[in-house]
Amino acid sequence: MSVLLTGGAGFIGSHTAVVLIESGYDVVVLDNFSNSKPSVIGRIEQITGKPCPCEEADLSDGPLVDAVFRRHDFDAVVHFAGFKAVGESVEKPREYYENNLIGTLRLIEAMTRRGVKRMIFSSSATVYRADNPVPYYEDFPLGATNPYGWTKVMIERILCDVCAADPGWGAALLRYFNPIGAHPSGRIGEDPNGIPNNLLPYVSKVAGGELPLLHIFGDDYDTPDGTGVRDYIHVMDLARGHLLALGYMRDRRGAFPFNLGTGKGYSVREVVAAFEKVCGRALPVRVDPRRPGDLPSVYANADRARKELGFTARLGLDEMCADAWRWQKRREEADGATAE
Ligand code: WQD
Repeated sequence: MSVLLTGGAGFIGSHTAVVLIESGYDVVVLDNFSNSKPSVIGRIEQITGKPCPCEEADLSDGPLVDAVFRRHDFDAVVHFAGFKAVGESVEKPREYYENNLIGTLRLIEAMTRRGVKRMIFSSSATVYRADNPVPYYEDFPLGATNPYGWTKVMIERILCDVCAADPGWGAALLRYFNPIGAHPSGRIGEDPNGIPNNLLPYVSKVAGGELPLLHIFGDDYDTPDGTGVRDYIHVMDLARGHLLALGYMRDRRGAFPFNLGTGKGYSVREVVAAFEKVCGRALPVRVDPRRPGDLPSVYANADRARKELGFTARLGLDEMCADAWRWQKRREEADGATAE
């Protein structure tokens, strides 16, 4: 089986590439490296001991994307490529709609032309309306509070309509909750540009001394300790979820949404405490006002993925933090080496 991973040099994409290659898939990565590094490809090959061909291309470049599809006989596409920063999407909505929607439409066009009609789409828990009760079920109402989230809702809609119009098409819509952690080798992990927006990469940098302290955005929520609760899932579990979704979609048509979460929520303070255990020191924190748009508590009902895909998250918060910390230390060593 040959699979194209758009955005495959990114955080979720690179870990999925490792899992698919190790499971016997032929993987080709397509990435424009706008939010990832070419060096990740070599690390995927180091981890797996197998080749991971990579095409540097932007999905908006129709002729280049067509050429990639002509060079390879893909059975399916795992579509990660897209801008994904919530705050940035509020500042730059046109760029987000253009990049995420037009890029996806160009990809669907190229796939259909080449008879590749299976997609695993990188969706997000952010597609659920903010006024839904927790835990979120797949049939809950959809609606976003920012342009990034709306692009995910719209792409899910596009895929549902493409599948309805063309009975040859099949798509799994994987709604990630909060992916964190890193490959246990410490060779790949989350590597956001600049100051991280998300909790775990920020905590990692505080633990590594790159940032002075963690700002806890609010401790007056209606949660057990007052801080925000989220459904953190290990990126390696998430990668395995893509492997199972590819198998599930092999002979299926139509569009199938799945929550990929653990079904359990952890608070900010619980994450900090878990990270302090692995890094061996107390982390400096300061409670700041709530971050606009944040919800008190978000976590999945994970039953459908378990029943349909046979997917259950195996790794807990301690492994997530231990693997993230190992990656942080390896990066410091690597940065130190390049700095010499
Ligand atoms: C988690 C918790 C914050 C940073 C985002 C995207 C979502 C999805 C997952 C792509 C919250 C608190 C955070 C910090 C903090 N990404 N926090 N200090 O907001 O749940 O979801 O990532 O699909 O689309 O919105 O994740 O990691 O930003 O926040 O206190 O410096 O940590 O308030 O309670 P979030 P997050």
